Amino acid sequence: MALNLRKLSHALGAEVCGLDVSKPMSEAGFGEIYQAFLRYNILLFRDQNITREQHIEFSRRFGELDRHDALPRDRHPRHPEILMVTNEPKPDGAPSDTKYTGRQWHSDMSFTLVPSLGSLLRCLSVPEVGGDTMFANMYLAYETLSDGMKRLIAGLHGIHLSGTRKIANTETGVPRAEEQRRINPPVAQPVVRVHPETGRKALYIGEKVKRFEGMTEEESKPLIDYLVAHATRPEFVYRHRWRKDDVMVWDNRCTMHLALGDFDETQLRHMERTTVLGTPSGRVAQGA
Ligand code: OGA
Ligand code: MN
Repeated sequence: MALNLRKLSHALGAEVCGLDVSKPMSEAGFGEIYQAFLRYNILLFRDQNITREQHIEFSRRFGELDRHDALPRDRHPRHPEILMVTNEPKPDGAPSDTKYTGRQWHSDMSFTLVPSLGSLLRCLSVPEVGGDTMFANMYLAYETLSDGMKRLIAGLHGIHLSGTRKIANTETGVPRAEEQRRINPPVAQPVVRVHPETGRKALYIGEKVKRFEGMTEEESKPLIDYLVAHATRPEFVYRHRWRKDDVMVWDNRCTMHLALGDFDETQLRHMERTTVLGTPSGRVAQGA
C-alpha cells in the first residue's frame, strides 16, 4: 500500500487521502501510517463516517487506550475509551463539562505520570464557522532555541496542573476543576523530552505549566511565557479547520494543541477523542 499523502503545512501535518480507517488493514499497511505519523506528527483522515466502535478499533492500532480515569466526568458513559469534547448541554439543561476543553496550549495528559502517546479526535459536528484547532511542532520549537537557552532549560522540570482552565467559568468549571485536582496531583515533567521512538528532543511545555520545580511562580512565569510564545510562532503552527467526519491523530510527545473559541456558542460543536497511552514520564511534584 502506497499512502497518498498531502502536506498540511510547512511545519507539520499531512492528510492521508483516500483511506477508509474502518476497513481491515494489514500490519504493513498500518506500519506505513505509523511511519507517516512519526514523520508528520499529525495526520488527517477526511470523510470517515464511522461508529464509536470503529473509532476505538482504529485507535487501538496505535497502542493501548486510556480509559480516562483521570478525567471521569468527561468520558462517554458506555465507552470509557471515548472522551467527549462537546458544548451540547446535559439532558437537564446544565452546561457540558467539556464545553471549554483544550482552550489553552497543552499536550494531552501531561498532568499524569503516563502522558499520552497520541490522541485521535473525530469531528461529529462543527459550527458554521470557527472552532478550529491549532497544532504546534515542538521539535522545531526546541531546535530553534539558542544554545544558551537549550543549556538553561536542560535540567528543568515544569509542574503541570490539571483542572486549570483559562475560562475559569463559574458556569461549568468549579466542581469539575476541584475533582480534577483531587484526582491528579501536580506532576513535574522534563521541559525537554526525548521522543521515545524518534530519539529527537522536543520542548515539553504549555499553559498548564505553572512553575518550574524548585522555583516560584513569579520566577518561572517569564520563561514559561517566552517558551510558549516561541513554540507557537505562526511558522511552527498548523491551524485546522474542521469538517464533519474528519479524524485527526496527533503525537502528544512532539506537538501541543489549542482549541479556539472563535465561534457562535449557540451552535453545536461536538468532537470525540480516544487517547493512546504513552510511556511513563515525570514524577509527582515536590514543594517549591
Ligand atoms: C482534545 C482537545 C481540541 C479541540 O480533544 O484533546 O484539546 O479543538 N481538543 O476540540
Ligand atoms: Mn487536548
